Amino acid sequence: MEKNSDMIEPVVVLRDVSKIFRSESGVEVKAIEAVNMTVAAGEFVAILGPTGCGKTTVLNLVAGLDAPDSGSIMVRKTNGSNGVIPYVFQHYTLFPWRTVLANVSFGMQMSGMSKRDCKKKAFSLLDQVGLGASANAYPHELSGGMRQRAAIAQSLALDSQLLVMDEPFGSLDDHTRHEMGELLSEIWSHLQMTILFVTHNIDEALMLADRVILFKGHPGKPEEEFYIEIPRPRDRLSTQFTALHVELRKLMSNECA
Ligand SMILES: Nc1ncnc2c1ncn2[C@@H]1O[C@H](COP(=O)(O)OP(=O)(O)OP(=O)(O)O)[C@@H](O)[C@H]1O
Ligand SMILES: [Mg+2]
Repeated sequence: MEKNSDMIEPVVVLRDVSKIFRSESGVEVKAIEAVNMTVAAGEFVAILGPTGCGKTTVLNLVAGLDAPDSGSIMVRKTNGSNGVIPYVFQHYTLFPWRTVLANVSFGMQMSGMSKRDCKKKAFSLLDQVGLGASANAYPHELSGGMRQRAAIAQSLALDSQLLVMDEPFGSLDDHTRHEMGELLSEIWSHLQMTILFVTHNIDEALMLADRVILFKGHPGKPEEEFYIEIPRPRDRLSTQFTALHVELRKLMSNECA
């Protein structure tokens, strides 16, 4: 990845973006202030930062679930996603009354694809995420990792170049989390997608991302960024990895308490 992501065609550009939340009693919380950020096509960017620094706020704005109070947001929409930006949350959001196959097919059906084509594509996506054998299961019959596999298949069904993910593996055990990271890396490099991924886990950010943007403060904003030039597959015991881990840990513990 180029050092300067502005040189590559951007998929996401935030310019001076601020967001204030107002409660019914009139209390204002400035969640983020003057955020400037660019994500280049094909880039895997991790937003890392302690709780309350505005990570989810940024994703919600990028996904169009919320509007900024000031500043501008450009998201380049591509392929057949119908303007919908796939968003994977920490807690799964599958319809409990639909099978895994029907959950993955849902978005495609809404876009007018024939039932037969939806089913074919959904099966292929489920195979891709290692869930082919559970196509007819219901969400409550799946483990947490399997549900997130289904959520990823559901997102891929939208055929979007951009995928946003908010701590998608945050509630999984370490082993499953690691497996899911490997799966996501494979999908990302195979499909040449652009991924904006939020985490507060340093190792996860360093394992996955081309670039880590460290958010800090109340209101939050990007404070530092690191291009991760460790070749993939990455070894978390390598000197380069541990040195970056130590640096990021130090920076994170200095603030946002
Ligand atoms: N709907 C809301 N109403 C009021 N305040 C909000 C709302 N959403 C977020 N905030 C506030 O905005 C700030 C940023 O919240 P945000 O959820 O973006 O943080 P975060 O970095 O995602 O935190 P976490 O790591 O805990 O998920 C926090 O102070 C939070 O309390
Ligand atoms: Mg959050």
